Amino acid sequence: MIKFSTDKKIWILETDDTAYVFGITPGGLITASYFGAKLPRVEDYPAAGEQPAWASFTNMEGQSYEEFSCWGGPRYNEPCLKVEFHDGVRDAVAEYKSHAIKENMLTVTLKDKFYEMEIDLVYEVFADANIIKKSSRVKNTGSNDIIIDQILSGAIYPQQANEYRLTHLCGRWIGETQLMQQVIPEAKITLESRKGFTGHHANPFFALDKNSNADEQHGEIYFGELAYSGNWKICIEKDNFNSIKITAGIHDFDFRWILKAGESFNAPALVYGYTADGFGQMSRNLHKYQLKYLNKFNTNSGNRKILYNSWEATFFSIDEAGQKKLAAIAAETGVELFVMDDGWFGERHSDKAGLGDWFINNKKFPEGLKGLINHVKSLGMDFGLWVEPEMINADSDLYREHPEWIYHFPNRKNTEMRNQLVLNLARKDVQQFVFSFMDKLLSENEISFIKWDLNRAISEPGYPSAEKNEMRQVWVEHTFALYEIIGLLKAKHPKVIFQSCSGGGGRVDMGVLEYFDQVWPSDNTDAFDRLLIQEGFTYAYCPKIMEAWVTDKKNWVNGRELSLEYRFHSCMMGNLGIGENLTKWNDEEKAEAKKLISEYKEIRHVIQNGELYRLLSPRSSHLFSVMYVTEDKNEAVLFAMLQCNHFGKELPKIFPQGLDSNSVYTVNIDGNDIVMSGKAFANIGIEIKLKGDFKSKIVKFIKMKVES
Ligand code: GLA
Repeated sequence: MIKFSTDKKIWILETDDTAYVFGITPGGLITASYFGAKLPRVEDYPAAGEQPAWASFTNMEGQSYEEFSCWGGPRYNEPCLKVEFHDGVRDAVAEYKSHAIKENMLTVTLKDKFYEMEIDLVYEVFADANIIKKSSRVKNTGSNDIIIDQILSGAIYPQQANEYRLTHLCGRWIGETQLMQQVIPEAKITLESRKGFTGHHANPFFALDKNSNADEQHGEIYFGELAYSGNWKICIEKDNFNSIKITAGIHDFDFRWILKAGESFNAPALVYGYTADGFGQMSRNLHKYQLKYLNKFNTNSGNRKILYNSWEATFFSIDEAGQKKLAAIAAETGVELFVMDDGWFGERHSDKAGLGDWFINNKKFPEGLKGLINHVKSLGMDFGLWVEPEMINADSDLYREHPEWIYHFPNRKNTEMRNQLVLNLARKDVQQFVFSFMDKLLSENEISFIKWDLNRAISEPGYPSAEKNEMRQVWVEHTFALYEIIGLLKAKHPKVIFQSCSGGGGRVDMGVLEYFDQVWPSDNTDAFDRLLIQEGFTYAYCPKIMEAWVTDKKNWVNGRELSLEYRFHSCMMGNLGIGENLTKWNDEEKAEAKKLISEYKEIRHVIQNGELYRLLSPRSSHLFSVMYVTEDKNEAVLFAMLQCNHFGKELPKIFPQGLDSNSVYTVNIDGNDIVMSGKAFANIGIEIKLKGDFKSKIVKFIKMKVES
């Protein structure tokens, strides 16, 4: 998987289908030399080179495809590292020192030519997922402080082409993960968040397709995601020489880190890849990596349980009797996990008070949490709970006791958003508080699921009692502390599933997913809007971690009314949940829900663990279709979702993908069995007849046994 060619001085990182190559130039730079399809002969990979200077304004160093460019000398594009040494020198000169290859890991160590600073470039190759992960680590090997002004995870250079197009995800609260595309101009594009968390507006994912001509099945694409949940940036720079440099990492905005003697700073990982087979394959590679390798606690095997969440049913009006009533109906229809949302603790009767007081409200729950949990358990379901541990209301006992625990600048107003302030998680005592109350909740109660929310961005990021030159570290310390706390809780309570939520999909990224098991992609539960949110989501993230709830018939977002079947089908494309006020269901609706839930149980292994093929997009077709195929290609499930008909026109044919070409499959559509080879399905297609507005259908493909 990883080789070092001593004559060419290049490191060759190969996956099943791709290769990433970089090496040492005769002049001593470390530059990228090849990224693309795997070549048949190792000898074919080029040696690392340098780019010529241009006139007296552009030097070789700035032009070359440096693997990890350190600011200093004539470099004017985005650096991966910018430091200041104790004597005020702000010019780093990194040279190759050594390297080590261990199975699928490579560490290349660089050393500053004069100062006591080393840099590790760390790579991991995931061959079957065609994914490479790289990160950087800066080590202070001397006795004086080093100030880090900027540290990114790494750079990538797509092969030269006439043109590249950027695909990225944009959005806002209740409108997350919308796909955006634009041809890359001769300029710099920055995708970023400065809010202290990943954010709804942009997601740390990018894809650049060569000559702007990729579609789901064809085209060369360079893609990646940053595994980080704090302030981040991804820069895409196209220079006047038709070269594109992509850099990604922790945002340098308001960032400064004091690296003391003997300390190291680990940048988060950049997870990236290349495919020649379009956006569909790009997503499947990312999904495979997420399912098999991403989560540190390997919780992605098996199937996720169908949950019920009480938020949209009750909002803050919750009590034991009401929750028990919902739980009984949920269990009756086949739900496996009952999650109680906001409002169960302290004086939390609205969003104005109570955050921080993480003890059960005994007026609402006379028997404590145990009363409800025992009831839920007796109904055969697991129990889950909502928390928002990084936040506090000014109207809370915790704030009255510890006003100094929030981020704030003296002499300045503390901005409240949703009436809440942000706890300073950079403080050890706050970290201890959060870990302890969570550990107590999980130790004293049979809780199987935690929905961990975050409902505002950080502002006034002051930490008045910190050392002055370390005050800017809070942005990063907050995120690292979150990871550490979840890591400790997971280690102690390994069976608990953690869900990341941030006013819907504000904290969805591969960093959070190293610790959390799944995410809440959006507070928008309109089953039609969700198709667009979910399509964008699956570009970068796998369906298994994408929770979706069936909520009330008339949805609060757009006032749209949709049938129960359509709402279920929309949610069944990921990790199914129910969020409807179940007490309003009549017997017929209960029976229909029960039928749909049991249908989902039969196919969820295909959806949650299978491979996704996007067949028709809701962005360009009134008929939307996706398909999931098990890895062994024995089973597949296809969804067809019609928005509306026009002029009595025939609906487009659907061309199933992902089936084994030579195997024979059977599918039943409206009572008729169709038996064809996988290749025939892909080439001839199928017709799914739907009439009316917002109609939907699921069809299942079964591989036929070959008689011996
Ligand atoms: C956020 C979440 C919702 C719900 C509320 C509770 O908005 O996204 O699902 O949990 O908080 O206050």
